[in-house]
Amino acid sequence: MNEQQKHLQQLVKPTTKEHVERLQQLHDETTYEPPNLKKARKRLKKDVDIHYDFEIPEDMRQIGDNQTYYIRTYGCQMNEHDTEVMAGLLSRMGYTEVSEMREADVILLNTCAIRENAENKVFGELGHLKPIKKENPDVIIGICGCMSQEEGVVHRIMQKHPFVDMIFGTHNIHHLPSLLKEAMFQKAMVVEVWSKEGDIIENLPKQRKGKLKAWVNIMYGCDKFCTYCIVPYTRGKERSRLPEDVIEEVKQLQREGYKEVTLLGQNVNAYGKDLPFDYGLGNLLDELRQIDIPRIRFTTSHPRDFDDHLIDVLAKGGNLLDHIHLPVQSGSSDILRVMARRHTRDDYLTLVKKIKAKMPDVTLTTDIIVGFPNETDEQFEETLSLVEAVGFEHAFTFIYSPREGTPAARWQDETPENVKKERLQRLNSLVNKQSKVAMDRYIGEVVDVLIEGESRKDPNVLAGYTKRNKLVNLKASKSLIGEIVPVRITHAKTWSLYGELVTE
Ligand code: SAH
Ligand code: SF4
Ligand code: F3S
Repeated sequence: MNEQQKHLQQLVKPTTKEHVERLQQLHDETTYEPPNLKKARKRLKKDVDIHYDFEIPEDMRQIGDNQTYYIRTYGCQMNEHDTEVMAGLLSRMGYTEVSEMREADVILLNTCAIRENAENKVFGELGHLKPIKKENPDVIIGICGCMSQEEGVVHRIMQKHPFVDMIFGTHNIHHLPSLLKEAMFQKAMVVEVWSKEGDIIENLPKQRKGKLKAWVNIMYGCDKFCTYCIVPYTRGKERSRLPEDVIEEVKQLQREGYKEVTLLGQNVNAYGKDLPFDYGLGNLLDELRQIDIPRIRFTTSHPRDFDDHLIDVLAKGGNLLDHIHLPVQSGSSDILRVMARRHTRDDYLTLVKKIKAKMPDVTLTTDIIVGFPNETDEQFEETLSLVEAVGFEHAFTFIYSPREGTPAARWQDETPENVKKERLQRLNSLVNKQSKVAMDRYIGEVVDVLIEGESRKDPNVLAGYTKRNKLVNLKASKSLIGEIVPVRITHAKTWSLYGELVTE
């Protein structure tokens, strides 16, 4: 324990039984209000406040000196990026990162609630954490991320995993320093989860994982409420960062030598809708493309809000890449209607046509759910035919997983599990076939590859990505790491390409 920690403990250490009870009572009154999915559903018109004055409380600035942290991240890029923010906060408090969970003084699980198996992984990990806590009672264990926003999960952790020191939600990340302080000096579990979204906090520190590729949030939350999806409940209402704040962050990344940024939001096409002036994703990209950073991506798009202006801006090319991830979820208009996707099969195909007309080389990828409640064989066949019609080169495919609190979870579902599994297999083999055809087309072509480092499988091979996000392996000098170089493709597998550096 360092001097500051001792001092803090002096200040807050309970001395008498009464004092302990009072602290407990205070804690119950102030920090524990269970998350509430019904409240999380309400959308208020109230403007979101943007704060530029975040600071780590003074008494926490050296609390982590000589201490370590470990964060395990589950889920999407948004969670990965939240982890970078929490890592930034912890390092400003003096903590250093370790690669082994067992060696850490603070362990955080940044969780995902999108499907049941995502949650099961976290509960499995909690089983492993119990002996770690037993061996070292001073270690602080925290659960955060989307699962913390679910009331059922919070109750289960409180009852079955009482060794957890703190649970905090996706809207409470900026409170990590004070939550950590409470957890250190309090006997009871610290729980702070707001059902209502918080404001936008602009100047949180970030410890980015990479030096070449960076994530930039452009908006938070989702207002679409697709009937199967938990995200609008766990991430709150749509709220956009101001364009100038996004532009400044990208400029800063460019100054730091980053080669690629990915703009993040659950539904990036809704960017700007909540701003008090007329401005959308197309306008933002039109400004960002003028920054001298080689590659700009964005994810995830929603077909409903993909407007013509955006297509026109994307068609200008340059650092705006011609890869669009455009989740369709199903090829059946009936299923799309009960999913509340707000687009039909025809709407989607018309949009794809428009995009291809202006961006002839575009690569389209997607997300698909099979086995939505009572999906028929014919409806599933419509999904297969849509996959063929669009020519997706990749798709993330999932079996529908009921999420407590969402409308679809209450619906009776007659489709047997083995039928759903068969559908998933058929879909995957079609997608894989299309992926291989797309990869084969690259043989003989020269593509620009951002070399990221050694291949995971072979340290003598370098690996990187093309503009259209294809993994390329090649043998070349390690001095090329961080560069964008021309590579001639010599052969192709389903998920990766192999090639040679073009030197002349
Ligand atoms: N905001 C993005 C993606 C959100 S989650 C979008 O709207 O496209 C990523 C993917 O998980 C979704 O596109 C969907 O295909 C899948 N997904 C979401 N909820 C699911 C559920 N309950 N069961 C199975 N898959 C789900
Ligand atoms: Fe979920 Fe639909 Fe929002 Fe995507 S658009 S996050 S699938 S509710
Ligand atoms: Fe999972 Fe939350 Fe992302 S539920 S997919 S981590 S927004």
